[in-house]
Amino acid sequence: MKVGPGEFISVMGPSGSGKSTLLNIIGGLDNPTSGRIKVAGIDITDMGEGELSKIRRDKIGFIFQSYNLMPVFTALENVETPMVLAGEMSEKEIREKAISLLTLVGLSGRLDHRHHELSGGENQRVAIARALANDPSIVFADEPTGNLDSESGQTIIHLLKWLSEIRHQSFIIVTHDLEIGQFTNKIYYMKEGKLTEDEPPKTVLPKKVLREQQLAFLASELSVVQDYLVRLIDNSKRPFTELQYEMEQMKDRINRINEKIDQLYKEKRE
Ligand SMILES: Nc1ncnc2c1ncn2[C@@H]1O[C@H](COP(=O)(O)OP(=O)(O)OP(=O)(O)O)[C@@H](O)[C@H]1O
Ligand SMILES: [Mg+2]
Repeated sequence: MKVGPGEFISVMGPSGSGKSTLLNIIGGLDNPTSGRIKVAGIDITDMGEGELSKIRRDKIGFIFQSYNLMPVFTALENVETPMVLAGEMSEKEIREKAISLLTLVGLSGRLDHRHHELSGGENQRVAIARALANDPSIVFADEPTGNLDSESGQTIIHLLKWLSEIRHQSFIIVTHDLEIGQFTNKIYYMKEGKLTEDEPPKTVLPKKVLREQQLAFLASELSVVQDYLVRLIDNSKRPFTELQYEMEQMKDRINRINEKIDQLYKEKRE
């Protein structure tokens, strides 16, 4: 199985066929009996726990079937944690980014609620915001909409798809929901531990309008890019070629944000 940058893929299949196991193996939480795993170009198959946990923190976002949120933390604190652990942003940047991610998933009114004060679907959305916090290269989502009604589920999937387009992040989504499969570039079917690939169904769902959320997020995305550039140019002691590469990446990202702004404007006029 090969997943490219910005690809949005779903894995379907009966209960017990090995879908969660597949995600655990790609995410370095479990070891394969055979074969090799590369994430963002790095072979993680034989890596020790120390190195692996750094890769998981910086490159991978996990949305677990059972959330795995910290029960004593508020929604905001849960989303902030991975950024605090990464230790690259100021407290203020972390707070702003956490708020913008929670706003994106529709939880701006629930920032200070704890796990037991949130509904199943709300907890799931906190877990989604947390998984996106460190701008991972790839996000694994195990039944990310399992606790949401079909409309909220589609809204969330639409948002994730949109993020993958702007940020060129890859997503692997395990789901039982055929409607969600329609959003994806590719569908894999898992049966008794074996994967087969299939074209997504042809039906196209109507686009959900989320203009305000999308605009707010684009604005905060721009400020994230700006902060990142300042850090890169002012504080980095990394080799020039590496900086240049990262600058090019950021310029691409700004272009994609611009395209999305144009698109939103066009949709509004239509
Ligand atoms: N740690 C483990 N050790 C041994 N067997 C396991 C382990 N974890 C899961 N299994 C088994 O591997 C098979 C695949 O499990 P997995 O959790 O990947 O299924 P799944 O496709 O995600 O199912 P569901 O849709 O119910 O979540 C199951 O038969 C399960 O019992
Ligand atoms: Mg599972």
